[in-house]
Amino acid sequence: MTSTPAIPRHIAIVMDGNGRWARLRHRPRSFGHNAGRKAVREVVEGCLREGVEALTLFAFSSENWQRPEEEVGALMALFVRALDKETDELHDQGVRLRFVGDLAAFDAPLRERMLAAMARTAGNRRLNLNIAVNYGGRWDIVQAARAAAAAVLRGELRAEAIDEAELGRRMCLGELPPLDLFIRTGGECRLSNFLLWQAAYAELHFTDTLWPDFDQACLRRAIEDFGRRERRYGRTGDQVAATGNQG
Ligand code: IPE
Ligand code: IPE
Ligand code: MG
Repeated sequence: MTSTPAIPRHIAIVMDGNGRWARLRHRPRSFGHNAGRKAVREVVEGCLREGVEALTLFAFSSENWQRPEEEVGALMALFVRALDKETDELHDQGVRLRFVGDLAAFDAPLRERMLAAMARTAGNRRLNLNIAVNYGGRWDIVQAARAAAAAVLRGELRAEAIDEAELGRRMCLGELPPLDLFIRTGGECRLSNFLLWQAAYAELHFTDTLWPDFDQACLRRAIEDFGRRERRYGRTGDQVAATGNQG
């Protein structure tokens, strides 16, 4: 068998299980969200160490607005605090920060912090760190379709020329390496509307570990699991053995 390149170029993580982690400790859910910050630092460190090119973290889904107002408020306050505290260090580490999702829904102080952090780190090359906020995979497909339709109306694109490549480059993260490894913590085996288009041929890794407990050793285990996969992209195992593992 031709071996899969050991290190995925692009990893995405559904950071799930903060609420249950807090409940186990008889603390409010927001305590779990705060504890999750350490796990974010762990995976960023791990990706820098392993030479991963892009890391995309699901921090707040378009469906999470349905949570109690108090929890949504605590999450927004956490995002502001985290941006104020972590941006300098990420910048020093050569991390390029991007926020992906419909940012128009956030109030101005938070949105401005997001835009400022993106502008400040735009020249960094060591790791692309994408934080998905108010993101939904269906929304992403819709916004790409809308952008393609607008290009047609401007006369820059023929409708017949819209193919997977044309739509794909208008999807969030379209300019980054394809998603190789999709990790979900917290034990649920579902996508929850994250990166539906981008995950088409990602390897999926589900772990029961709750997000605040996820550390560099957990990341290493996920990467080792990825390294054992045979990515066939529709071909047979024999074909893969003869021609290599890339799609
Ligand atoms: C994930 O943890 C964080 C967000 C959705 C913001 P949860 O808050 O969903 O934790 P559980 O799934 O209830 O344990
Ligand atoms: C997905 O987790 C969203 C994030 C981790 C940000 P959820 O906890 O919201 O997903 P469901 O509700 O279990 O599908
Ligand atoms: Mg959850």
